[in-house]
Amino acid sequence: MRVLLGLSVASALRLALAFVIDTKRATVCNGRAELCNRSYGNITFIGAHDSFAESEDPFALARDQDVDITTQLNDGVRLLQAQSHMNNGVLHFCHTNCILFDGGTVLDYLKTVKSWLDAHPTEVLTLLFTNPEGVSIPGVWAPAFDLSGVAAMAYIPPNMPMKQSDWPTLGELLGNGTRVVVFMDAGADGADGSVPFILPEFQMIWETPYGFTDATFPCSVNRTSGPLDTTDHMYMINHSLNVDIIFSLTVSDPIEASVTNSVDSILANAYGCTQFANGRAPNFILLDWVDVGQAYQAADILNGFRT
Ligand SMILES: *[C@@H]1O[C@H](CO)[C@@H](O)[C@H](O)[C@H]1NC(C)=O
Ligand SMILES: *[C@@H]1O[C@H](CO)[C@@H](O)[C@H](O)[C@H]1NC(C)=O
Ligand SMILES: *[C@@H]1O[C@H](CO)[C@@H](O)[C@H](O)[C@H]1NC(C)=O
Ligand SMILES: *[C@@H]1O[C@H](CO)[C@@H](O)[C@H](O)[C@H]1NC(C)=O
Ligand SMILES: *[C@@H]1O[C@H](CO)[C@@H](O)[C@H](O)[C@H]1NC(C)=O
Repeated sequence: MRVLLGLSVASALRLALAFVIDTKRATVCNGRAELCNRSYGNITFIGAHDSFAESEDPFALARDQDVDITTQLNDGVRLLQAQSHMNNGVLHFCHTNCILFDGGTVLDYLKTVKSWLDAHPTEVLTLLFTNPEGVSIPGVWAPAFDLSGVAAMAYIPPNMPMKQSDWPTLGELLGNGTRVVVFMDAGADGADGSVPFILPEFQMIWETPYGFTDATFPCSVNRTSGPLDTTDHMYMINHSLNVDIIFSLTVSDPIEASVTNSVDSILANAYGCTQFANGRAPNFILLDWVDVGQAYQAADILNGFRT
């Protein structure tokens, strides 16, 4: 009942917002006029892996970022990835578990995202969350999206699953006030009651393998699911390099980040994957230490804005 009410409030807000924004259609989308007319499915976005796992303490082993999500967004990150865990009955973002690294509640995280979106009205953002404990989408996730206000900005596809070529342009997403696209790796296939804006990731996005210790980033289609062909999916490359430390524990390597996040390394990885995507560049490039290196330059090249 509470969920139904929450969703209908969200729909009403979405309509109101669409009405307001439609009167001043965006002429710059995600910082570029050219992107307004380009399909969401045909753009390369930079993503922050474990976006909440931020610490300047070099001894915090489970950290993957050294700037907070607001700084990541200000710098140009347009996909935020995060791993959830229940902690004393409340949904948190934690890395591996909440003792190792507790990034706070999902609700607080989403409120921070909402504030940033409010301050940046011509930006389209993707959220990619993982749900390793199979926490209820309608019971726990949806209320956090509703309470934070992010649900009212979330895109609901007209049909499912959406092919890569089906996605609206950034201008259309902005014009409709539906400029947040939300994917979940598990539990969003409708099995436990569907929430229409929380989309099943692997039906529409495939991923390369993760947990690499090989600096050449050989490409393969690792996680995906039907019914669409692989080439009809968008795709994400996990471009982060782990190092083996003692007891075969692998951790993200901050020292190598300037090499890993260089234009050369990112482009080599991207071009190694185009064979699986009818020659298309990756839609999402997921990075650790996203403030280090030349990620945005690499994305500009893949988007055709510089050579
Ligand atoms: C937008 O794209 C369509 C088809 O790709 C094209 O026909 C149209 O001229 C473009 N509009 C602008 C304003 O660039
Ligand atoms: C977008 O389309 C162009 C032209 O087909 C292609 O070169 C580019 O790789 C595509 N990018 C993505 C992310 O699909
Ligand atoms: C925008 O909203 C209108 C009215 O609800 C709808 O018909 C249209 O399909 C929406 N466009 C996109 C790209 O979501
Ligand atoms: C790769 O991305 C997936 C999905 O978001 C995530 O679960 C995984 O931890 C990532 N791994 C690395 C090393 O980037
Ligand atoms: C995906 O990658 C993991 C290692 O990261 C590997 O164990 C697994 O077999 C791969 N699965 C597929 C379908 O390639």
